Amino acid sequence: MLTRVNHIAIAVPDLAAAIAHYREVFQAEVSPPEELPAHGVTTSFVRFSNTVIELLHPLGEDSPIAKFLERNPRGGIHHVCFDTEDLSAAVSHVEATGVRPLGQAKIGAHGNPVVFLHPADNHGCLFELEDASGSTHLPAPDGA
Ligand code: CO
Repeated sequence: MLTRVNHIAIAVPDLAAAIAHYREVFQAEVSPPEELPAHGVTTSFVRFSNTVIELLHPLGEDSPIAKFLERNPRGGIHHVCFDTEDLSAAVSHVEATGVRPLGQAKIGAHGNPVVFLHPADNHGCLFELEDASGSTHLPAPDGA
């Protein structure tokens, strides 16, 4: 049902410091920060051969990341995103098992439909399911 880890999203209180950290400590390739006002985040991508880490920093008043950083001021893993070949079937299945989706499918930052799952129903983890039926695996540089 879930095919691959699409990305791991990490909220950071200081994006410039996090970018420098991933470049210097892990010698990773990190993209320059990009503002995505529609999603309330500024993001940079740390690329690996099999997945992407997305560094997320709040942007604007209603950023979904702001509350997380209030609770986790040093930052931390915000969510894990999985590809699925059939998003509506995957959501129907998890819903039937008692895991609540957080709202309807929306177009995510990569241009594909996504649904988040309630962390309270998922052992404390926020999961994002991304419809990968029409997309390539790794997000484009303009995605999040
Ligand atoms: Co995501």
